[in-house]
Amino acid sequence: MNRYSAMVATFAAAVLIAAAFAAGAQPSPQAAPPAAAPAPAGPAAAPYAMTMGDLMNTLVQPRHAKLGLAGQAGNWPLAGYALVEIRQAFAGIAKAVPKFRGYPFAELADAALSQPLNALQDAIKLQDPQKFAAAYDQLTAGCNACHATLFHSFVVIKVPDASAFPNQKFNTGP
Ligand code: HEC
Repeated sequence: MNRYSAMVATFAAAVLIAAAFAAGAQPSPQAAPPAAAPAPAGPAAAPYAMTMGDLMNTLVQPRHAKLGLAGQAGNWPLAGYALVEIRQAFAGIAKAVPKFRGYPFAELADAALSQPLNALQDAIKLQDPQKFAAAYDQLTAGCNACHATLFHSFVVIKVPDASAFPNQKFNTGP
């Protein structure tokens, strides 16, 4: 390390220490108390309750895609993880929205998905690309079967042909 880089390193360390100190610094006892926040005008904001469509769009669709992309790439640890995540997503949705237009979500999801999800689990354990592809097709058919049952046959799920996640790696190579 030459003289200049040593100086830069010392300076960087000093900045880091100062920042840490500032973050943890307590106000002195003499400091004036903060002024009370003014009462908010108008009605209080209502918490936003996710609809079934929101939950499908945010929890289920990306997990279905990630599971497919990981399996296509033979990335079995990631596929196993995505499978757990998609199972958890459905379990969470069943709790949050137990009924959709009077239909029991958990029962319909179970009927549509439990067999393909178990087949996917076996394929991942066996690290078998053919079994994975077949079970993934069944899973996707299960998505669409429930959409048809619940008046959304126009929401058609398919096997992903590209990644929508430019910041995540699905293959295991370099
Ligand atoms: C138990 C029934 C059921 C299953 C199983 C199911 N869905 Fe859905 N899905 C719905 C319903 C109902 C809607 C319409 C919800 C709404 O409009 O509020 C929907 C809507 C969607 C939408 C549209 C959301 C949007 O805003 O674009 C997507 C995407 C979706 N589902 C993905 C999937 C995928 C992927 C699977 C399979 C892994 C799946 N769904 C399995 C019931 C199901």
